[in-house]
Amino acid sequence: MVYDAFAYAYDQALGERFFRSARRLLTRLLDRYPAVEKTHLDLACGTGLAMEFFAARGWTSVGVDASLPMLSLARRRTRRVVAADFRALPLRGTFTRITCLYDSLNHVKGRADLVAVFRGVQRLMSDRSLFFFDMNHPDIYPAVWGMKEPFVASGSGFHLEMATAFRRHDATGLALISGWALLPTGHRVEISERQEQRAYSEREIVESLGEAGLVPVEVIDFDPFKDSDDLHAKGVKLFFVCRAKL
Ligand SMILES: C[S@@+](CC[C@H](N)C(=O)[O-])C[C@H]1O[C@@H](n2cnc3c(N)ncnc32)[C@H](O)[C@@H]1O
Repeated sequence: MVYDAFAYAYDQALGERFFRSARRLLTRLLDRYPAVEKTHLDLACGTGLAMEFFAARGWTSVGVDASLPMLSLARRRTRRVVAADFRALPLRGTFTRITCLYDSLNHVKGRADLVAVFRGVQRLMSDRSLFFFDMNHPDIYPAVWGMKEPFVASGSGFHLEMATAFRRHDATGLALISGWALLPTGHRVEISERQEQRAYSEREIVESLGEAGLVPVEVIDFDPFKDSDDLHAKGVKLFFVCRAKL
């Protein structure tokens, strides 16, 4: 299982920094597309950062994630969380805003599964709903995941090393994540996980959305860490705003 012990280092190592940028973009989008009914679903909610943001603005949020350690941390921010795989969402009704942030959809390994996630989202949307999600620009995998040097981050409660590689033949990024983290109880856990991410082109994403009955309203170039100048990449992340086909 990915995001096992890694969950306990996630906010400090990556999540909070990403969300500082994401909150600026989400604030702009919530202003640009105001909603009367404030129901929010966060897919791959992780530690609940987006749910906390929406709740502070008067939204009722539900979060879904497949990682129990992530959900145990999210529960410290909000109570409405569901353990589920986003390829088979066990939810009914509709939500006016659905989010799936920090390249969580790059964990989906094939087009068929990506379409399954999008179909599940489409079923939970009305004509007033919008779906906001970001995925990594495909250039990021050779440019960043292909780097020889590991990513290293340390803080008072964790140490993390991520060694990455990119496999061109199946467009897959591989990450070996090691280190340690302190649990909320103060106990130390060792981190040793292997993750895979699939690189998708914008065209593959748009085609998958179309198969699921979703239409992009906007595709925004999103560079949360302001590092595009240092990279041989045409973009860092693609941030989609989508609606359901009428
Ligand atoms: C990079 S984290 C992002 C967490 C959160 N969205 C954020 O912005 O901080 C990716 C999340 O995707 C979740 N995830 C990966 N595959 C999943 C799946 N098939 N179903 C549900 N959640 C999944 C992981 O457990 C993890 O919490």
